[in-house]
Amino acid sequence: MTHCAMLRAAMALRKFHVSDSSPSLVEGEAELSRRKAKALIGGSIEMRRLHGTPSDIGGTYILDPIFRAADQEKLRAIVAPSDPRPLVVEIGFQMGEFAAAFCAANPQVRYVGFEVRKKYCQEADALAVQNGLTNATFCLVDAREMLREVLVPGTLDQLLVFFPDPWWKPRHIKKRLLTADFVAAAAHFLRPGGRLLLKTDVPGYADWAQGVMAEDPHFEIERLADPGAALPPTLRERRCHFHGYPTFAVQATRKPDLPTI
Ligand SMILES: C[S@@+](CC[C@H](N)C(=O)[O-])C[C@H]1O[C@@H](n2cnc3c(N)ncnc32)[C@H](O)[C@@H]1O
Repeated sequence: MTHCAMLRAAMALRKFHVSDSSPSLVEGEAELSRRKAKALIGGSIEMRRLHGTPSDIGGTYILDPIFRAADQEKLRAIVAPSDPRPLVVEIGFQMGEFAAAFCAANPQVRYVGFEVRKKYCQEADALAVQNGLTNATFCLVDAREMLREVLVPGTLDQLLVFFPDPWWKPRHIKKRLLTADFVAAAAHFLRPGGRLLLKTDVPGYADWAQGVMAEDPHFEIERLADPGAALPPTLRERRCHFHGYPTFAVQATRKPDLPTI
């Protein structure tokens, strides 16, 4: 057995926890907001603005909307509803492999990616430069708070979450991206008919996320027969295909007739 196959076998035996049994989850507002802040990667944006150190990141397509007011303004202009081009947001673009292929094939869309790791922003930027992209923006920030700061309700066409970290352990469940809160935010910002699309190679995550999405009355949920969803593959997806591992796609389509929060 190769090292990779052994690793995969070990992962398959790993239990994907679906609930956090910690009693503190029901301890009230203060505890909940403390947990939410801890779930954010790098901490809350408000606290970082107050106490954090600005990054020195540079790049053709990169914005640092936490610390640079000018970058935040640029981001607001890019996502402005006055721009008629479809708006597509990807969370966790990592090396930017999907972004490069998607943006090159769809020059008419506005693509905005969010990524918490500076190194990945730089890798994606280099790939975008190489491909001469005209419609990509990469933001160095935890998407969850930034989406709420810059997006206008009902204006997003697609929200893409590809192969998010499963956060296996019960004490890490709070860090998972697909929470009820996140799905509610997606309902708020997607336009009628817009979609939240999740791809994953963890069957438990697909089932769990599908359950979380299905709880939200704003969405029609579908497990796609084509796990690639007719989109260019991400790096992780390509690796899964290479090794013959299955992947899954869950799509939540925003219903037109329900107002949001
Ligand atoms: C497992 S990787 C998946 C990478 C890529 N989507 C793929 O399919 O190959 C998850 C990525 O999401 C990023 N990430 C996780 N949570 C995030 C968040 N809240 N906002 C922005 N990026 C996030 C991580 O830094 C990491 O690069």
